[in-house]
Amino acid sequence: MVAKSSTYLITIIFSALILLWFPATTVSQKNGNSTPPDIDQFLSSIFNLPLHAIQALAKYFIFSSKISSKDIEIISYKPNNKNETTNLSSTKDISLSADEKIVIIVHGFQSQATADWVKSLASAYHNIGIKNTLAINWQKIAKQFYSTAAEATKMVGEMVGEWLFDNILQQNSSKLENIHLVGHSLGAHVAGFIAKKISNLTDGEKVYRVSGLDVAAPLFEYPIKLPTTSRLDRDDAQNVDVYHTDGGLFGFLSPTGQQDFYVNYGGPIQPGCEGNILESVECSHSFSHKLFTKTLNSSDYIAIRCDNTELAKTGECDNNIAVTFGQNINGSDYGSFYGFVDSNADPVIGGI
Ligand SMILES: *[C@@H]1O[C@H](CO)[C@@H](O)[C@H](O)[C@H]1NC(C)=O
Ligand SMILES: *[C@@H]1O[C@H](CO)[C@@H](O)[C@H](O)[C@H]1NC(C)=O
Ligand SMILES: *[C@@H]1O[C@H](CO)[C@@H](O)[C@H](O)[C@H]1NC(C)=O
Ligand SMILES: *[C@@H]1O[C@H](CO)[C@@H](O)[C@H](O)[C@H]1NC(C)=O
Ligand SMILES: *[C@@H]1O[C@H](CO)[C@@H](O)[C@H](O)[C@H]1NC(C)=O
Ligand SMILES: *[C@@H]1O[C@H](CO)[C@@H](O)[C@H](O)[C@H]1NC(C)=O
Repeated sequence: MVAKSSTYLITIIFSALILLWFPATTVSQKNGNSTPPDIDQFLSSIFNLPLHAIQALAKYFIFSSKISSKDIEIISYKPNNKNETTNLSSTKDISLSADEKIVIIVHGFQSQATADWVKSLASAYHNIGIKNTLAINWQKIAKQFYSTAAEATKMVGEMVGEWLFDNILQQNSSKLENIHLVGHSLGAHVAGFIAKKISNLTDGEKVYRVSGLDVAAPLFEYPIKLPTTSRLDRDDAQNVDVYHTDGGLFGFLSPTGQQDFYVNYGGPIQPGCEGNILESVECSHSFSHKLFTKTLNSSDYIAIRCDNTELAKTGECDNNIAVTFGQNINGSDYGSFYGFVDSNADPVIGGI
């Protein structure tokens, strides 16, 4: 066993280097075309660490257990703007419309529950008649170094899962059927851990749905793929739908849901995201929540089932089963699917 303190030290060194080198990379690397960078080179350069050092960090990755309940807030976004905020150490209730669907949005690394995209998604849910929209605010942790935020995802998820159980589910476990978690980036893993915790507390029952938007890959899939108990997984909920828009860089490349949607073949660079390397990769990562928000009032987002990108590109899957993707998913088959959208994230029928 390696002592926790040595892991902690590696984390600090690694994190300090990320902070120092992110800006330098942004300005020094220009990319005129749309070819995504190689992941080893990309992460080595943004972390300014040789590959073996990143591998060492992944090898000694341990989830943290010390998170303060005061540092996790729950914001309830309301259609009438009378939003409410509480935190996990507060006894203040959140008022929910009884017996209606509850959507819970979880932001990712360096973000917050008051980010524009979270508010837009909450408003879009109100527009389709879903009034109970909660956002988990774990910004105090998510805005720390990447490795610190990654190590906290499990505990944050477990604490929120316990809160949801105590406050919403304990009185009436049928409400599990109403719960839909939507998480972006590291928030997708948090959503997975919320769902796993609820399942543990209800003797194996599962929430209705988890949607993972460009699920974070560094330290979860790359350079070492963690076991399904340590990340978002297809068994976490009754339905797990996953969207890949920056696959192989900040986003997961391999399937991790029941339905995995590879948007524009799943990887960077997404349309409208051209620019220098870091900007275009980040834009492609955020493209997943821009897209998901747009799908709320549409069934025109169609993807075809296909086992991999090579087959999808040759057109061999063109006659396979088609399903709607996004909020209004209609298929129940497990598998990978390919769908196409333009730079506004509007659907492009027939591919790009
Ligand atoms: C309340 O929530 C809505 C989204 O439902 C958001 O647009 C608005 O900015 C929020 N108001 C405040 C004061 O945060
Ligand atoms: C948590 O909520 C309680 C009760 O609403 C409040 O008194 C306290 O200031 C909050 N703590 C933080 C850190 O926001
Ligand atoms: C429990 O929740 C379900 C689903 O929301 C609802 O249909 C049912 O009426 C609730 N039962 C009670 C006793 O509140
Ligand atoms: C819940 O978690 C505890 C501790 O890890 C474990 O012992 C127990 O078997 C789990 N229960 C269920 C129903 O998964
Ligand atoms: C969906 O909602 C957006 C904004 O809320 C609106 O511009 C668009 O027309 C709507 N589309 C449909 C098909 O209702
Ligand atoms: C899903 O809905 C789309 C659009 O309405 C339709 O073309 C497709 O056949 C449906 N797929 C399934 C599996 O029901």
